[in-house]
Order: sequence, then C-alpha cells, then structure tokens
Amino acid sequence: MTTYVDATAKKKRMAGIIPIHGAEGFAGMRKAGALTAEALDLLVPMVEPGVPTATLDRFVYEFARDNGAIPATLNYRGYRYSTCTSINHVVCHGMPSDRPLREGDIVNIDVTLIVDGWHGDSSRMYPVGAISRKAERLIEITYESLRLGIQEARAGNTTGDIGAAIQRYAECERASVVRDFVGHGLGRLFHDEPNILHFGNPGTGVEIKPGMIFTIEPMINLGRPQVKILNDGWTAVTRDRTLSAQCEHSIGITEDGVEVFTASPRGLFDPLAARTG
Ligand code: MF3
Ligand code: CO
Ligand code: CO
Repeated sequence: MTTYVDATAKKKRMAGIIPIHGAEGFAGMRKAGALTAEALDLLVPMVEPGVPTATLDRFVYEFARDNGAIPATLNYRGYRYSTCTSINHVVCHGMPSDRPLREGDIVNIDVTLIVDGWHGDSSRMYPVGAISRKAERLIEITYESLRLGIQEARAGNTTGDIGAAIQRYAECERASVVRDFVGHGLGRLFHDEPNILHFGNPGTGVEIKPGMIFTIEPMINLGRPQVKILNDGWTAVTRDRTLSAQCEHSIGITEDGVEVFTASPRGLFDPLAARTG
C-alpha cells in the first residue's frame, strides 16, 4: 500500500528545501528549455498589428501538442490558457483574448512547456510594429536587468546578489522593480524553492549552489512599482497605468558558471536586436 502511494505520489514543493539537480535534471531542462525557446522564436514574425493574442495562444497550444509537450499554465490553478500575454501596462498574467494587437503596443509572451516532466519557463518582449522611444527604452532596461541578474547567478553568490544587481541597474535608469512577483525554482515542479527576488541587498537570501535550477524574470515599470490585480483574478497591471515589461529565462547553476536553458536557438531573445539584426 505505502509503496504504491509513494510510487505514484505527485512531487510537492517542500518549504525551505532547495532541490539540487544532477545530470538528468540538466538534460531534462535543456530539452524543455530549447522547445520553449523555439516556440518564442516562432512567435517573433507572428506578432503584428491586427493579430489577436488568442491566435498566438492557439499557436503555442498546437506547437506544444505537435512536439509532445504540455503547456504548464493550461488548467494551472484555474488558468485556462497556454500562454500569458501581457500588453503595455499589464505587468504579468495577461490572458489571451480576441482583441487585436495595435501598432505601438508592447507585449510580453510567457510560455512554459513541460517536456518529459521538466518545465522550460521563459518570456520575452515583442514590439508590435513601430513602438515609441520610451517603450523601446523600457524593453532595453528590462532585457539588460535580466542579463545583469544572470551574471550574478553563480555558485558562492547569494540570491540577494541577483536581486540587488537588477534593482540597482533598473533604478539607476529611473525605472522601478515590481515586488509582488518573483522568480522561482523549477524542474519537475513549475514553482519550487528558492524564490528569486528581483530587488534587495547583496549577500542576503540563500547561498547559490551548483545543481540549483531557477528562473529570473524581472518585471520593470517606467513609473511606480505598485501593481493591482483586475477582477478576473489574474491580470496584474501597474497602479499608475505606466508601461511595464518583463524578460524571463530558466537557468541552471554549474560548478563554474551558469547554463541558460531557454536561450534562443536563433538569437532572437533581445527583441530590439532581433529587429535590426
Ligand atoms: N509563467 C509564469 C511564471 O513565469 C507563471 C504563469 S502562471 C499562470 O512563473 F497561471 F498565470 F499562467
Ligand atoms: Co517563471
Ligand atoms: Co514564465
């Protein structure tokens, strides 16, 4: 009886316990991350004025299905979509809809694909046609803040070093860091220990060790950091209605550095570089 229950038990998040993954976990994450990154790459030419985010969501659903993957957000805590599509002042968890994208919008598309039980979680910013200089600047700041966060993600540092690097840079650029949502451990679980704050002080938090796998996913606002959740129970928006952007990678800590599981196979992660290059 007990052995039967153990063999089929669902993995559960253990408070305060940070999983250390081995070669199998890294191989699983490499595959899930690559498929997620491929989906995000394929979305680049699809994001255009007039296209509803529901169309992008359906594409990701079908892409996952055709590649033996499962979108992790589908039926997750009652969420009913394969992606989050967060437009302009939407901070995160925007729900795909039939409303067409408009020229000048900026949209974050967040995709998590489960491959062989492993979760690849990544999001990028997509400009819709020509965008304003301030929207471009926000995307640059957000992309760079993720890059600086990843740079601090190495054995011997602490999780607070990541948040501190992100906050220092974003605030120097006169933008603000959202506090209400954080990066997270992941692997066979979608959301696991540790929490990765995108703000805070160097040397705080927990020590980063080889084998840890987590996301870094800063949300950066042009105005104030406060958010509110709309009545749909999901959509988070900036209280002051200023623009918000987010970039997310899933990474693994190695002995001597970091592996970015969701790196773009085509070099399209940076939306502004992707447009001109
Ligand atoms: N992909 C999001 C993250 O980065 C989680 C979305 S949960 C959902 O953690 F239910 F809103 F889809
Ligand atoms: Co995430
Ligand atoms: Co995500």
